[in-house]
Amino acid sequence: MSTSDQATSVLLQEKRVFNPKPAKQLGFDRWHIDSLEQYKALHEASVRDPESFWREEAKRLDWFEPFHTVCQWEAPDAKWFLGGRTNACYNCVDRHVQAGHGEQVAIIWEGEPVAPRTGHPASSSAYAKEPEIRRLTYRELQLEVSRCASTLKALGVKKGDVVTIYMPMIPELAIAMLACVRIGAAHSVIFGGFAPHAITERAIDAHSKVIITADGGYRRGDIVPLQKNVEESVTQLANHGHIINHVLVVKRTGHQPPSERFKTGASHIGATKFHWWHETVGASGDACPCESMDSEDMLFLLYTSGSTGKPKGIVHTTAGYLAFVQMTARLTFNLFPDSGQVFWCSADIGWITGHSYVLYGLLMNRVPTLMYEGAPNFPTMEGGKGDRFWEIIARHRVTHFYTAPTAIRTFMKWGDELPAKHDMSCLKVLGTVGEPINPEAWMWYHKHIGREVCPIVDTYWQTETGGHICTPIPGAIPTKPGSCTVPMLGIDAAIVNEQGEELGANKGGLFVIRKPWPSMLRGVFGNRERFISNYFGRLKDPATGQPLYFSADGARRDEDGYFWVQGRVDDVIKVSGHLLGTMEVESALVSHPFVAEAAVVGYPHEVKGNAICAFVTLRGTWYAKNPGKQPSDELRKELIAHVRKEVGALAQPDQVRFTEGLPKTRSGKIMRRLLRDVAAGVEKITQDTTTLEDFSVVAKLRQDDE
Ligand code: PRX
Repeated sequence: MSTSDQATSVLLQEKRVFNPKPAKQLGFDRWHIDSLEQYKALHEASVRDPESFWREEAKRLDWFEPFHTVCQWEAPDAKWFLGGRTNACYNCVDRHVQAGHGEQVAIIWEGEPVAPRTGHPASSSAYAKEPEIRRLTYRELQLEVSRCASTLKALGVKKGDVVTIYMPMIPELAIAMLACVRIGAAHSVIFGGFAPHAITERAIDAHSKVIITADGGYRRGDIVPLQKNVEESVTQLANHGHIINHVLVVKRTGHQPPSERFKTGASHIGATKFHWWHETVGASGDACPCESMDSEDMLFLLYTSGSTGKPKGIVHTTAGYLAFVQMTARLTFNLFPDSGQVFWCSADIGWITGHSYVLYGLLMNRVPTLMYEGAPNFPTMEGGKGDRFWEIIARHRVTHFYTAPTAIRTFMKWGDELPAKHDMSCLKVLGTVGEPINPEAWMWYHKHIGREVCPIVDTYWQTETGGHICTPIPGAIPTKPGSCTVPMLGIDAAIVNEQGEELGANKGGLFVIRKPWPSMLRGVFGNRERFISNYFGRLKDPATGQPLYFSADGARRDEDGYFWVQGRVDDVIKVSGHLLGTMEVESALVSHPFVAEAAVVGYPHEVKGNAICAFVTLRGTWYAKNPGKQPSDELRKELIAHVRKEVGALAQPDQVRFTEGLPKTRSGKIMRRLLRDVAAGVEKITQDTTTLEDFSVVAKLRQDDE
């Protein structure tokens, strides 16, 4: 999308403004920041003198050695809290135990099945009334994490190694992540919805030799075959000459048919040994000290989609990430320990939202974090609806609920009566994340979940930013439905044109950050060139000549200085809040024997925000096998299934359209804008249409390069 497209599409003005409420009205003792004036003063000071601001903020962490320098910035390289030594697990767990809070609840977990562990959970006759619930105190967490950490050491994991984690939303996922960082290993968590190929390419890229997984995970009553996917990936990896030494498997479902190749104990695939978690963790002892880490040592890798087929391993480092995430969690959600708060972020830990605001940000602030294993519509009601989320909020007296616009739009569709059935008077702050929220969804959230009193924080940020970049701060910032409002403290954000010049009010442009911040990505793992070109290669500050951090989002700023994010301007699509590279889907399609070429674009979708439309040309072999025929619905289904298998269900195209050729410019570039226009009309086309698109006419009409 070009900058001018942005400008025209944004002028749909939203005029409603919701002012902050007094803290007491929401049951808070106070707001951390309680007026717009206070926010403005703090923000201005934080950007004018970042050193002092971040020096103070970093004091909230516990340090093994103090840092001597706050920040060293040689664009695009930032180093924060130089000379300092600390440990993430220590800051999340141990220090709370040492301070006498060991008996407080750190993690509340609810499993999906409301059924006993035997038999398929969807066999309704066997349903248990109550779901499985676990509560881990800081002391229990410390013990579990230490045991897992000693086991990882015994399996040969060393400081600096990368451990791959591919798990369902169970407490062992949090334990495994904290165990890694306790011994100085970085975790690379892969969302459980991804296919084996995703594990393979990420493990190769990260040089990872150990994988932690589970035999399966529950999702809407089905079992996600995680262990089977890991087995497939281990074999793929071995074929690439990459040997996984150990796989540690949590027994979660017990439904996995015992694999031929995996029998407890001495089982292995080639040189890869498989171990049950329950037989191994604990066997190497209960004690494992926290490793002293340099501020700039890698904390974790998290892969995100880019505009090429290969995902990028985003590098986050220890102290900067911790400092920023503890601050943003505290301010954005007005967190206080010891005040009865229960925080629930419904994101999977496999995404950055889960890293920062299921795990690290909450544990550091000593506010109980709720993890839910499954789907919002399990048990499933008629029409595929569900009210599990509202039940969870009422059951656990959740005070903070943080979810994605796509989920909110789904809840809207399921009807107002479902939330109305539950007592959600416990809620104080609501959050959204992942994609722009349309004002109708915002208003529904406000009315039906927030009782028209809870502030809504629309948090704009990215895997690369580590934490919130723009968000209302409840108590201080009036909200406007659809706007992520103002920059976080310490964030110097602007809207610029291609020349890097800051644009005036309501002009569509590109979202940039001018100064470094502690949790900014430190690189793309093993790919310096991609780091520079993706984030710092396009825009420069005309005043200083310094590269600007570009988020790849188009946005505008209104007359009140509020940001309105329009969406990506590169070839990645947000589908249900998940980032997907069009190239990833295209590569999956062309790996099918009948596909010659594929072009993938997004088109607006009522619930998902965007859906995927794939334009496909077929190889001669298909036509030779099917003389005189047109591509069938059967083939369309086969291609969709192929993408699911290669990438994962979240990448499956909603539409596959066959064409004899793709419209290209003279220089051979696919005319994506044209395809987007065609795809946008897609909903009008019936499912069973098999006619080929004929782009030759349009292509001839549009000979110019885009
Ligand atoms: O396009 C923006 C969109 O999500 C992208 C980042 O995706 P990811 O790295 O997967 O992280 C998602 C969770 C932080 C951004 O470039 N995005 C995220 N939050 C918002 C948003 N767009 C508009 N409003 C938001 N609140």
